[in-house]
Amino acid sequence: AHTLPKPPLTIKLCAPRGFCAGVDRAIQIVELALEKYGRPVYVRHEIVHNRYVVDGLRAKGAVFVEELDEIPAEHAERPVIFSAHGVPKSVPADAQTRNMFYLDATCPLVSKVHKEAEIHHRRDREILLIGHKGHPEVIGTMGQLPEGTVTLIETEQDAWEFEPKSARQLAFITQTTLSVDDTAGIVNVLRERFPDIVAPHKEDICYATTNRQEAVKAVAPLVEAMIVVGAPNSSNSQRLREVAEREGCRVSALVQRAADIDWDAFDGISSLGLTAGASAPEALVEEIIGAFAERYAVTVDTVRTADETVVFNLPRELRQTGHPST
Ligand code: F3S
Repeated sequence: AHTLPKPPLTIKLCAPRGFCAGVDRAIQIVELALEKYGRPVYVRHEIVHNRYVVDGLRAKGAVFVEELDEIPAEHAERPVIFSAHGVPKSVPADAQTRNMFYLDATCPLVSKVHKEAEIHHRRDREILLIGHKGHPEVIGTMGQLPEGTVTLIETEQDAWEFEPKSARQLAFITQTTLSVDDTAGIVNVLRERFPDIVAPHKEDICYATTNRQEAVKAVAPLVEAMIVVGAPNSSNSQRLREVAEREGCRVSALVQRAADIDWDAFDGISSLGLTAGASAPEALVEEIIGAFAERYAVTVDTVRTADETVVFNLPRELRQTGHPST
């Protein structure tokens, strides 16, 4: 039998995409802790929101728990690592009370927002946090201060309806992985209503979130469909899918693996945009390209809108000894 020639497909790869410096550091912390302390190493919450990454670390000896009290008493001596999203103050405090050895993989750009919250609080400002309810980063940031101190604003409507609890000066901070455009809309409402509101010196939305959204904006008008490699609980990945949809992609899908692709939805396309959220490894992007290459005659073309050079230091305990990096 003759096989029909494969239809042509141009894949436009968004760059930057995938791992950010915070995710890279968090994964390294788990790997180095396993090397240095042996198994098991406990990790509170998915170290980063990606099942493939989590399964890989689990295979090497990491044990994932949601709360510290799930760690069995006989393992109380084992190291425990806090995820990249950050934790409420109560978590390290609790670990200290239990005499646990912990390593904090909170992204330094999330820690920066935690510090801003504390400074506003010390200066007696009333604090608003723009973010998504229930996301671990939001729980962690709100948990830097006593309960009820920080008011969560999720939408422009929340910003219109917000009533200050006091006559104190207002300040806002944000989650690091928000939609740049939606956040600008919310901030505009707040500024219109409260012209004196104190804003972050430098945006809280991180460089990686901003750059990945920019790349999708550049690629979306050039393609019929977009695939974002990422997990459904990954905030920055969800935002990338929304950006593609708003920029006019007919199909915009968030997939974890090639097996998740709904091939009918992509039937008849000749151009596809491809990106990955900050917690999705490049191997999964390659897997998706491979799956398309089985069905299409694929040409891959990279569209780069920014260069990234950010690298974060590891915690002191895990820095290499004997190889002084001056
Ligand atoms: Fe950090 Fe931004 Fe990545 S806050 S973990 S660099 S998505």
